[in-house]
Amino acid sequence: MFNTIIMRKLLTLLSLGSFLVCTAQADLPTDYLPKEFHAGRRAALRQLMPANSVTVVFAYPTRTFSNDVDYLYHQNPDMYYFSGYKEPQSMLLIFKDEQTDSAGHKYSEALFVQKRNAQAEQWTGRRLGVEGAKEKLGIPMSFNGEDFKNFNVDFARFDKIIFDRLPADLADNPRDKAELFDLIAQFKQKAAMPEDYSKDPRFDNRAFRQLTGTLREIKTPEELTLLRKAVEISCQGQNEVMKVVRPDMSELEIQGLHEYVHKKYGAEEVGYGSIVGAGENGCVLHYMENTKTKVGTSLLLMDVGAEYHGYTADVTRTIPAGGKFSAEEKIIYQLVYDAQEAAFKLLKDGAKWSDAGQAAKDVIAEGLLKHGIIKNKNEVGRYYPHGLSHHIGLDVHDRGNSPVLKKDMVITIEPGIYIPEGSDCDKKWWSIAVRIEDDALITQNGYELLSSFAPRSIEAIEKMIAQKSALDDFKLPPLKSAEKKGF
Ligand code: GLY
Ligand code: MN
Ligand code: MN
Repeated sequence: MFNTIIMRKLLTLLSLGSFLVCTAQADLPTDYLPKEFHAGRRAALRQLMPANSVTVVFAYPTRTFSNDVDYLYHQNPDMYYFSGYKEPQSMLLIFKDEQTDSAGHKYSEALFVQKRNAQAEQWTGRRLGVEGAKEKLGIPMSFNGEDFKNFNVDFARFDKIIFDRLPADLADNPRDKAELFDLIAQFKQKAAMPEDYSKDPRFDNRAFRQLTGTLREIKTPEELTLLRKAVEISCQGQNEVMKVVRPDMSELEIQGLHEYVHKKYGAEEVGYGSIVGAGENGCVLHYMENTKTKVGTSLLLMDVGAEYHGYTADVTRTIPAGGKFSAEEKIIYQLVYDAQEAAFKLLKDGAKWSDAGQAAKDVIAEGLLKHGIIKNKNEVGRYYPHGLSHHIGLDVHDRGNSPVLKKDMVITIEPGIYIPEGSDCDKKWWSIAVRIEDDALITQNGYELLSSFAPRSIEAIEKMIAQKSALDDFKLPPLKSAEKKGF
């Protein structure tokens, strides 16, 4: 007994000691973006930045989920893109021109990170710290956040200070002098930023989205590898759900099956709240409650995207939960499918993006008119109320500026028709909601459909639904408490 206690104490000490020196963890994914990628992105930004300027990037704030529990932290994609740093309470400076510190060191970027703290790390997770940032992220000028206060940077020297919108609702924790609140306050103070900086041309928070949009809308080979994986994983989720779906399943259960498959393949997160809407619920474009207890035999709209190492897919499949499309469902589905095909035909480097949007809209307008669902093509927006397409990447609605498609852009093509109950058309169309969303990589002469792993046509979907699933035998016992009905 005595020995065991001593042993335990020794082990605790050892683990604390090794904790402080940050032992290398075993069995981690090996395909994270390399530090050279982030360095390359900083270099590319520097090329675009105006003369004598500095770009300032802050981490996203943490947000309260409940009392002392935070929402799962998600880094600001710009911070991740330009540094690889994934932790909160941090800040990155990127200088157009090389700077020299008082000791004569040259540098063109500086990163301020969370200080290592054994106690905090035991509760909320490992921190990279200054040494980790230098080694793993390859940023020699890495400092603790608390060092920014005395960091010798004279913002008055810059002709342009470029930054994104600053969060306005941060509360100060007076016991922590290195949190995001302080970094932003010190930045404003050091830069002598006026309250209304929009009138001072030196402070530019419009250029930030312009410059980063130009970079982020074109994916590098490293980004494409991760995006391909995110999209393929999302398709595997769609396929497995198609095979296992039954009318007595709930929307939540189906969401869980998608997200289980994502995690099985190593995708850490979803890129947006999973949308699983049966019947009428499919008419709510971003329906995320997923509370219907039985999906029944109606159409089931599933817009679910895995996020893999920061990059998110955005894939929607609409399937008949009972196995077969009804006659009306087939008509609406085929219209959406044809609209998507019309758009696909126009995708290639140099094409006008809005032409694809118009082509899809025309197909839907003609179809709805032909079936008497609208009386005039101008009414198409009633049942197709959103756009066709957006970039995907580190954000599900990723940044970009170009109205012309370019090679190595990755965009969605997602027409839809939604006919809510009570619509001004024959009742037989009511509660039919169809969206088909695919992710396309623009190439020199066309596109590559990254989401081709999941079936799209009526026949192929019905065939997939008829297949057996590895999850068919995954049956759990009913809950004991379910026997007591209500209160
Ligand atoms: N999942 C959101 C969208 O399709 O844009
Ligand atoms: Mn989308
Ligand atoms: Mn979507």
